[in-house]
Order: sequence, then C-alpha cells, then structure tokens
Amino acid sequence: MSGITKSFPGVRALDGVDLDVQAGEVHCLLGQNGAGKSTLIKVLAGAHQPDGGEITWRGEPVSLRSPIAAMRLGIATIYQELDLVEGLSVAENVFLGHEPTTAGFVVRGRDARREAAVLLRRLGHAEIDPARHVGDLSAAQQQIVSMARALSHDVRLIVMDEPSAALDPEETDNLLRIVGQLTADGVAVVYISHRLEEIRRVGDRVTVLKDGRAVANGLPAKSMPTREIVALMTGRDVEYVFPRRPAAPRSGDPVLRVEGLARDGEFAAVDLEVRPGEIVGLAGLVGSGRSEILETLYGARKPTAGRVTVDGRPLKPGSVRSAVRAGMGLAPEERKAQALLMLESVTRNVSVSTLTRFSRAGWLDRREERRAARESTRSLSLRPDNPDALVRTLSGGNQQKAVLARWLLRGCRVLLLDEPTRGVDVGARAELYAVIRRLADDGLAVLLVSSEVPEVLGLADRVLVLREGRVVHAAPATELDEHRVLDLVMEGSPSR
Ligand SMILES: Nc1ncnc2c1ncn2[C@@H]1O[C@H](COP(=O)(O)OP(=O)(O)OP(=O)(O)O)[C@@H](O)[C@H]1O
Ligand SMILES: [Mg+2]
Repeated sequence: MSGITKSFPGVRALDGVDLDVQAGEVHCLLGQNGAGKSTLIKVLAGAHQPDGGEITWRGEPVSLRSPIAAMRLGIATIYQELDLVEGLSVAENVFLGHEPTTAGFVVRGRDARREAAVLLRRLGHAEIDPARHVGDLSAAQQQIVSMARALSHDVRLIVMDEPSAALDPEETDNLLRIVGQLTADGVAVVYISHRLEEIRRVGDRVTVLKDGRAVANGLPAKSMPTREIVALMTGRDVEYVFPRRPAAPRSGDPVLRVEGLARDGEFAAVDLEVRPGEIVGLAGLVGSGRSEILETLYGARKPTAGRVTVDGRPLKPGSVRSAVRAGMGLAPEERKAQALLMLESVTRNVSVSTLTRFSRAGWLDRREERRAARESTRSLSLRPDNPDALVRTLSGGNQQKAVLARWLLRGCRVLLLDEPTRGVDVGARAELYAVIRRLADDGLAVLLVSSEVPEVLGLADRVLVLREGRVVHAAPATELDEHRVLDLVMEGSPSR
C-alpha cells in the first residue's frame, strides 16, 4: 500500500500511509486509539475505498472495490468489531458470503458443518459445535469462528484487528500458535494489538501509525526497545507504570459486601469485601465466572444463593434498579452490545445515566449536559474532543473511554470494571490507571476484572484468583506475581 489517504467528515483518518507486507511475515500495526489502524486495514479489506494512493498485490496494481474482491485475491480480515450474524449457526457464519462452487452450489447443511468442524479443529477448538447459534458462544469462541471463516477461503494474507483483545492468556497462546502455523505455510499476517509483549512474541516487523501517518515503517519487532516504540506512538515519553498505592491498607467498613454468592453452573460460594478507597481485582481465565460475578452483583443476573450489601443495605437479587440506586456502576465487557448507543453523540452516551441531573423544570439543560460530559471525556483524553461526534464513528479504544466517562460522571459508590483497558492504547492506559486510582482515592470501592494479569497485579490492592467459578486464593497484590497467579488460575488447589 503506498500513499493511502482517507478522510471522513472532519477527520483525516489516513494521510499518505505506506505499508508493505511480505509472504510468511507477521507485520504488526501499532498506534494510539484513533491513529488510523482499523481504517487502514478496512481499505485493505475492500471495506473502505481510499481517497488516494495505490495498492499493489503480488506485483500487480489492484483496486479493491469490495470485501468480495479482496477475498477473491486471498485477503481475509478479522475485524475489531466481529461481524458475525448472531442468529445464524457457526457453520452458516463460516461459509457466509462464499460464492457457489463450480457445480453451482453453495456449501450447505451437513457439508458446511463437516467442513466447519475441520477448520475449527485446525484452530484447536474442536469443542465448538458447528450447529450452534453464534449468539450463544463466548466472545473468545466467536473470535475463533471469525478466524475459521477467514481460513475457509484460500487465504494468502490474513488481517487481524486486535484479535487477542477478548482472549485470556491461554487463548492468546493458542492464537499466537495459529499465527505461527499460518506464516510457516507462507501466509502473510497483519496483526494489530495494543499489547507490546505480544508484538514481540509474534511479530517480525512493526509499522507505527500516529494521527493517520506512518511515523516508522518496518521496524524490527523483536529488538526495538519498548520505550522507543511508545515514544513513536505517543510523541512523548510515557512512564509505563501503575499509579502508587496508598501507603497503608484501607480501613473502614466495606462498602460492598458479598456473602456466599452463587449461580448454578457459573460460580459458587463467593465471599468478598471492598472498602472505600480500595481496588480489588478478580483474576481468572475466560469462563472462570469473572464477568458473571460482576453482572450478578449489578443485578443483571439473579443469584441462586447469597447476599450482596452496599453500605450495609441488602440489594434486591436480580434487580439492576436496586443496584444502581445503591450506587453501583458497571462498565461491561461487551461495550458495543451492552453499553453504547452507537447512533447517539458522545455527550448523550456519557450523560445517559445522569440525565435527571440536567433537567430543569422538565427541560433538559443541554449546555450543562454537554459541559459536564465533556469534562468527563477530557479527563480520559477521549478523541476526537468533539461532544457531538457519533459514537459509531469513534475508534474502538475511544468507545471504551465513552463508557468509562459515563461512570465518572455518575459518581457511583461501587464501580465494577470488566476489562476496562481492552483495546485502549498504552499511552491512554497509563492515564486510565491513574483515573481509576484517583476515583478510589476519592473514596470509591472498585472491583476490577481483567484478563491481563500484570494489570490486575499492578492496579489492584488485593487480588482474588478465580478458577472454575470458585475463589481459590486471595492475597494482597504485592504478595503475588504473574507466575503464581497463572499457576493458580490454571491448576490452583483451593487454599480456603
Ligand atoms: N465511519 C467513520 N466516520 C467518521 N470518522 C471515522 C469513521 N471511522 C473512523 N473514523 C475516525 O478515523 C480515525 C481513525 O480511526 P480508526 O478506527 O482507524 O483508529 P484505530 O487506530 O483503529 O484506533 P483503536 O486503537 O482505538 O481501534 C478516528 O479519528 C476515528 O474517529
Ligand atoms: Mg481500531
């Protein structure tokens, strides 16, 4: 790709970007939220038409007028926002958009299921039933289905936009193993991730985007110092560190108290307490019950046993209203489906849980709504700094910031954070960590779920390790290390 430009109304998303990818290599794209990574690969996928620039494919100039045209050449893309059809089965999704075979038939029914099963096995996920509805699968499994779809074509270049964002360490290992297999077969991979350690493990070369330009092309992925990469991305020296913990452990009565909480088949006997000013982290694999626990605390799922109190007052089980009234806020994992109003402005997305505060005698004070929302988005450096931008047009990381800005504005007592930094770039991550710590210092109780063990250990005061729906260990974060947590998570013996 050379000199690629692409503008959206009011935004120059790509401003003359070059990218060259060789057969059998993993070429990583790095850049802050909104830098233009997804836009660049959508041009490569034929999903966006560039305003200018050229694309050369195996020595020939090509124009990729549609996703089908790109696919025909052997370019497959796994998007950041998975584009699966929830109401269709796994097999139907895998073969969606396939052209009829030479005999004039689209792969169908039993054949489709058999072929899908072969692909899923190749991806190390034989347990996914091709006949199941995609909507019933976990985020990690949906990702695998999306990958199976890419492989169902004769693929020469596979583009992955933050494929590991929804995966836990074990799943990520599996993904990186697949990437290794693909490149060994001569397939080229374009890999987008905000996790530098992954880029080191899997990448050959790195191209860094900043504000729609490539500020570095084809750097060696393994030997480039982290500091320099981050400086290229952000244009400044970012301290890649976590905020300081309070000197003494928090005293005072717990704000949130959970006793014997259980949901059949998901988790059991969960006891935990979070004091004002405290950040408690839940570590565990996908499927260990982490998100289910948060959603149950929030009232979105009804527990089969147990008690939740906020400031000593019991919550009504299975009632979101009761949880929100008591001062609970949840920033959910699946932000697009669960939290965002995609067709509304940034302002409305941020203010939606606080609208009554901006009502004056039945009228909505829009100026005050905008001002307050903007204060909240600015504290998270949400880009673009435009309160009227539609959330649909924000980059993935900035959408996440919009959800967090909402809870900042609401000012709750207990903040439940499910994968708060998923898709957030390294520069903004440091800012986000500081914001979360500041909220705690202001007296909030924070319960944090993250698949990134270093994040839980760096940010939380205390850590509970979950395995198969049970708390197998609880300790101050300073007494644990990554190795120990991963051991516990994978085969931990109950210590309580
Ligand atoms: N459909 C659209 N309409 C308007 N603006 C858009 C649209 N798609 C992207 N943009 C803008 O283009 C810029 C680049 O966005 P892009 O999604 O490519 O960023 P990104 O590098 O993938 O970021 P992230 O790491 O957050 O996923 C952003 O300013 C974004 O708001
Ligand atoms: Mg993106």
